[in-house]
Amino acid sequence: MSSDGSLVGTPADAISSGFPEAGPPRFASIGDVRSGLAGVDYLADDGISGVVYLADRLAKPVLVEGPAGTGKTELAKSVARVTGSRLIRLQCYEGLDESKALYEWNYKKQLLRIQADAGRSWEQLEEDIFSEDFLLTRPLLEAIRSTEPVVLLVDEVDRLELETEALLLEVLSEYQVSIPELGTVRAHQIPLVFLTSNATRELSEALKRRCLYLHIDYPDLERERSIIETRVPGISQALADQVARIVRSIRTLELKKAPSVSETLDWARTLVVLGIASVDVDQARDTLHILLKYRSDIERAEKELAGVESPD
Ligand SMILES: Nc1ncnc2c1ncn2[C@@H]1O[C@H](COP(=O)(O)OP(=O)(O)OP(=O)(O)O)[C@@H](O)[C@H]1O
Ligand SMILES: [Mg+2]
Repeated sequence: MSSDGSLVGTPADAISSGFPEAGPPRFASIGDVRSGLAGVDYLADDGISGVVYLADRLAKPVLVEGPAGTGKTELAKSVARVTGSRLIRLQCYEGLDESKALYEWNYKKQLLRIQADAGRSWEQLEEDIFSEDFLLTRPLLEAIRSTEPVVLLVDEVDRLELETEALLLEVLSEYQVSIPELGTVRAHQIPLVFLTSNATRELSEALKRRCLYLHIDYPDLERERSIIETRVPGISQALADQVARIVRSIRTLELKKAPSVSETLDWARTLVVLGIASVDVDQARDTLHILLKYRSDIERAEKELAGVESPD
């Protein structure tokens, strides 16, 4: 530990002075992001690739919002794969607190040590039990401490309570964590951070201000077709095209829950398993439950399909 209590050597002002020491660029260009992601089967458009590129260059977290199943979580995982980084994931839920997000002391182990060393003075014991050996690191601290490249995924951040969101903001502003008994832990390198949200609640202005914003919507026809071809082994181009078109037309209906990309893929896989080379209206109707999860939505889509013999 250095004299100011930091556990690692990077000066704090290098990281929090506006233009942080973000390290060498991970990507040469926006096109490089796009082709890298395609190499790990994630098909990004220019909007997605552009934000990832900037996030790296500006060392800013990305707040990714959009409907369910459109590839928000998968984006962070894929960026980790492309950049050869370790993926550290903080899965958010209501009630997640500092002890699960940042760190906590291993009380059981501390108690055992106190019992085992009953003869020692409290000063000696205290120094001992509040040391690294007794620290349980949680994802945020893990990401800060890591000496290897990291992608930090804070998944479903909208489920956090406001006070935990404030804690997160603090960590993402300073890239340092203060542990009273140990000192300040400063980041070796700024991780690439992705926060995903389904927008079940508004996030604080302060958090939004800190992040680059990326909205991932349903892909356009061509990209969804490519996603199907990439992710569904053995599918023909013609069937992938047909699936993408039908899903697209179903999404235009007034539905409780429009089919997501993951449901499109499930449907495409189902059709391949059933040995269907080209979907007719009856086959589509019989398998709609893979795509839609509400009775009323299925009925609405059935009516639509009945009226369109060859969907376009
Ligand atoms: N651009 C894409 N390229 C390749 N696959 C994709 C893409 N977008 C989505 N997928 C596929 O869709 C699946 C679902 O994506 P993911 O779990 O990332 O969705 P999400 O947006 O995080 O959803 P949720 O809001 O429900 O958590 C992925 O596992 C992947 O197979
Ligand atoms: Mg997700």
